Amino acid sequence: MRYLTAGESHGPRLTAIIEGIPAGLPLTAEDINEDLKRRQGGYGRGGRMKIESDHVVFTSGVRHGKTTGAPITMDVINKDHQKWLDIMSAEDIEDKLKSKRKITHPRPGHADLVGGIKYRFDDLRNSLERSSARETTMRVAVGAVAKRILAELDIEIANHVVIFGGKEINVPENLTVSEIKKLAAQSEVSIVNQEREQEIKDYIDQIKRDGDTIGGVVETVVGGVPVGLGSYVQWDRKLDARLAQAVVSINAFKGVEFGLGFKAGHLKGSQVMDEILWSSEDGYTRRTNNLGGFEGGMTNGQPIIVRGVMKPIPTLYKPLMSVDIETHEPYKATVERSDPTALPAAGVVMEAVVATVLTQEILEKFSSDNLEELKEAVAKHREYTKNY
Ligand SMILES: Cc1cc2nc3c(=O)[nH]c(=O)nc-3n(C[C@H](O)[C@H](O)[C@H](O)COP(=O)(O)O)c2cc1C
Repeated sequence: MRYLTAGESHGPRLTAIIEGIPAGLPLTAEDINEDLKRRQGGYGRGGRMKIESDHVVFTSGVRHGKTTGAPITMDVINKDHQKWLDIMSAEDIEDKLKSKRKITHPRPGHADLVGGIKYRFDDLRNSLERSSARETTMRVAVGAVAKRILAELDIEIANHVVIFGGKEINVPENLTVSEIKKLAAQSEVSIVNQEREQEIKDYIDQIKRDGDTIGGVVETVVGGVPVGLGSYVQWDRKLDARLAQAVVSINAFKGVEFGLGFKAGHLKGSQVMDEILWSSEDGYTRRTNNLGGFEGGMTNGQPIIVRGVMKPIPTLYKPLMSVDIETHEPYKATVERSDPTALPAAGVVMEAVVATVLTQEILEKFSSDNLEELKEAVAKHREYTKNY
């Protein structure tokens, strides 16, 4: 399975084309729209959600509610584009109009300046429009298709925020993936500990009043994963490494860890390795899950636990100093519409990219022209694994 996304933040539409999805998968626009709505939500966000709520339109690959095996094209219309017709026009326009929303004061921490240097732009809007996290809309749409396949295979995925702007959320022990999903969905800040909800919201309000921004750490968990996805035989087939790349590719994500992650650097081997158990009911399991479901770049059947750190949003209402690219004079950076935090939304994006990579791996390993064929192959593999 492979895919590409296209589209600018204020362009006419966003598009994704996915190839390699099995035929016969029940798929509706509603399956996708639900996750698009989650991506636009979360406490502390507002701007774009007020302008438009995203809806997907299939223009290929789905017929009478089921995938056909042909490439799936999904479009999301940017309703806001109507106000940007001149500025985002594909046709050339008068210089006077061009300068209307021209950007020459790059924002520190964003793609504006380096994108301008690299592609030789005199208007940094060209960098901004594609580097904007609006692009993640289509990654969420692709992830929602992947999640439909995972659901058919009884693989469940959820995400929640574990550190919000430096405030660590104490997570109750032994929560199942379903419980995490349910609790995080009830929270406007995507945490599983309701006692901290008000404190986090108050903090976001304060950050907004200060004209500042915050990031944090999001955890994604996946349950019901077949054993042996990924491989140790070549560096680029290690699935934990592929997931790490996907997570760090999300706008503003700066690091990733699995299971105990960086804490493992403080511990002894006896405190880190997960002892192996076997029972006729469950097959091979582990006494603990410190390694977050991976051994040798392969899934070991334990839940995948992966965390990603998001830096604070770069666009500040209290802008930082920058330099005008025409005069080289010091200036305050441009303020494009922005929020104090987008952490809950970023969690939805992380869930989507993790689901996408896992699905790619599953479709690579198992025979999958048709959904039933895939389900049979996975069921057979699970039976084999248990009795190995
Ligand atoms: C869901 C989400 C929403 C974001 N919203 C904004 C935003 O409103 N303003 C902003 O400046 N950056 C926002 N970002 C972050 C920027 O897109 C990102 O910092 C920028 O593209 C530079 O890339 P880098 O931080 O990965 O180096 C958001 C990121 C995510 C994941």
